[in-house]
Amino acid sequence: MKRRLHRIAPAIAALALAHVPASASADPLDPTGRWTANERGDAALPPMGWNSWNAFTSDISEEKIMGSAEAILRSGLAAKGYRYINLDDGWWLKRRQPDGRMMPRTAQFPSTIVPGGDPSLRPFTDRLHAMGFKAGIYSDIGRNSCGQVYTSTMPNQPEGSVAEREVGLYGHIDQDIRLYFQDWGFDFIKVDGCGIRGLPADHPEVRSGRYRALPPLVDSDTVARTDVAAVRRLYGEVADAIQRYRPDGHYIFSICLWGSADVRAWGKDVGGISRTSEDIAPSWARMLHNLDTVARRPLYAHPGSWNDPDMLFVGTGDFDEHHLTEARSHFALWAMVNAPLSIGYDLRHASPALLELLGNERIIAIDQDPAGNQATLAFDSDEVQIFVKTLASGDKAVAVFNRGSGPVDMKLTAAHLAFADAAEIGLTDLWSGVQSRFTGEKELHLASRETLIFTARGTRLLADGVYLSEQPGSVNPAVDGVRTPQPDPLVHRAPLQWQGTRGKGDFPRYGGWGGARVDRTPFDQPQRIAGQWLGNGIGVLANSRLEVRSGGYRQFRARVGIDDSAAPDAAPVTFLVYGDGRLLARSRPLRRGEPAQPLSADIAGVRIVELVTRQASASAADIPVNWGEAALLRPDGSRPD
Ligand code: GLA
Repeated sequence: MKRRLHRIAPAIAALALAHVPASASADPLDPTGRWTANERGDAALPPMGWNSWNAFTSDISEEKIMGSAEAILRSGLAAKGYRYINLDDGWWLKRRQPDGRMMPRTAQFPSTIVPGGDPSLRPFTDRLHAMGFKAGIYSDIGRNSCGQVYTSTMPNQPEGSVAEREVGLYGHIDQDIRLYFQDWGFDFIKVDGCGIRGLPADHPEVRSGRYRALPPLVDSDTVARTDVAAVRRLYGEVADAIQRYRPDGHYIFSICLWGSADVRAWGKDVGGISRTSEDIAPSWARMLHNLDTVARRPLYAHPGSWNDPDMLFVGTGDFDEHHLTEARSHFALWAMVNAPLSIGYDLRHASPALLELLGNERIIAIDQDPAGNQATLAFDSDEVQIFVKTLASGDKAVAVFNRGSGPVDMKLTAAHLAFADAAEIGLTDLWSGVQSRFTGEKELHLASRETLIFTARGTRLLADGVYLSEQPGSVNPAVDGVRTPQPDPLVHRAPLQWQGTRGKGDFPRYGGWGGARVDRTPFDQPQRIAGQWLGNGIGVLANSRLEVRSGGYRQFRARVGIDDSAAPDAAPVTFLVYGDGRLLARSRPLRRGEPAQPLSADIAGVRIVELVTRQASASAADIPVNWGEAALLRPDGSRPD
């Protein structure tokens, strides 16, 4: 039986329902009519550049950094978009007492010596700016640094008394940010979190009197032992200070909390980029781990707020010039997930092959595509993964990745690309530039650890619009319904099955962390309502609010309902669609087991669509709900405004 659709004509809605301003209520499910993910700063595209840490750890000097900057210029990499030259740990000498001014290491950075004045990094940033670069600096949100807490035997640790060695931002946010951005002219800051993580009163270095205790706000093993609100507040203060001292908005704020402190839920609202994992290492397994920490959260990355799986290790260890297959995979995958492309290699000694790899303009263009859609997983297994990303042109980028140590034959299908089965698909190989065509499916051979990467042009499944799941960069889970944040669970994947890579594969079976997902439920199951499978949708928990950029489309359409994986006694859920803060359409309260209900709204002229789910009374368990086949359409064939 077809259920009655509760829909309010926009004109009537406009009369009957007042606009709800952002401040009217503290209810986070109330529409704001705004896009609330971070847009401050210069991160409309993932930043590209170079950072000293993977190349030199804290053993840095002006000579090494300028040498790399000159190599970036000389090799042509700068012209291809690598523009941030970022200092990491090791630049600081001490915090001068009693005025608290930060002192750089004049021995390693001779240009900081200003006759008759305070040492300053201004000549250093002036030089970089004169070369056409942007300059980045590094700090910590606590009193002490990662090097002091975890790698104190490395060179260039801060010196002096206990107070002089407190080089982090804690208690000095305004003073330091003003110095770094206004006085010294930096354009980028990475703010680490070791000082609020690693210095409890019983730490040996605290007991010995070397550092002051700072009761940890972050426990990387469990969010429950983390003061998420306090951590967020501190990083928020930094964001505001940067905006204060760089009101022109030309800066990038890089949050480095390694995925802890529930940063996946709020980092996107505060910083331009946010780390999702512990440090990358030059090993295959570690690269896979870092990739895995971003692969399932494309909805948490947008222009202005990117997931950061850490800096590139191209050139070193498993990714050195003798392992170009691995290096290419690392690079191509980082581009597919819209990672910042931050080279971590001593470019003074880079081989032509490495420079060519890092300078592959076709792949850089995938990372820098203005639509800002992080690739989603169209197929997932222990061996093969297929990442697909919708480009601004409407074409797709697809990376077919062999994680394993043996060769694999697999099939790429039109369905993976959300393209029509019967129409021809054109592929351009981004390594070789070679073009090819196929219809339906194409057999591909992957060497061990190889990534094939293409752009694909075909006929969209949806002739008159786009599925939200095709453009995660335009969907912000402002409230994702997660009540008890948990760390990402370990990922288990099944090996390839008898049907090869046709279909969606055998996705990993694990608990998931409950965040909003593309084409899956929050607990990583296929979306299903009343026994019916749904494709191309958004899965989220009840009591959530998604902000969607309308992109000039005129109609929103979805099939909604509680997912069959919800607890049988789930309280009913109402689905509501808002346009710029006004209610446009709502379902009646839907029970688990009821068939998917069509829900549509006229969104002509609307900028921000908000998709809200509400339960009248919260269920004990988290309730997965579906915005199945959610799409933005222009049914009259008009072009988006
Ligand atoms: C932490 C960060 C790294 C690097 C080091 C420096 O481990 O995650 O990226 O900045 O500190 O000590």
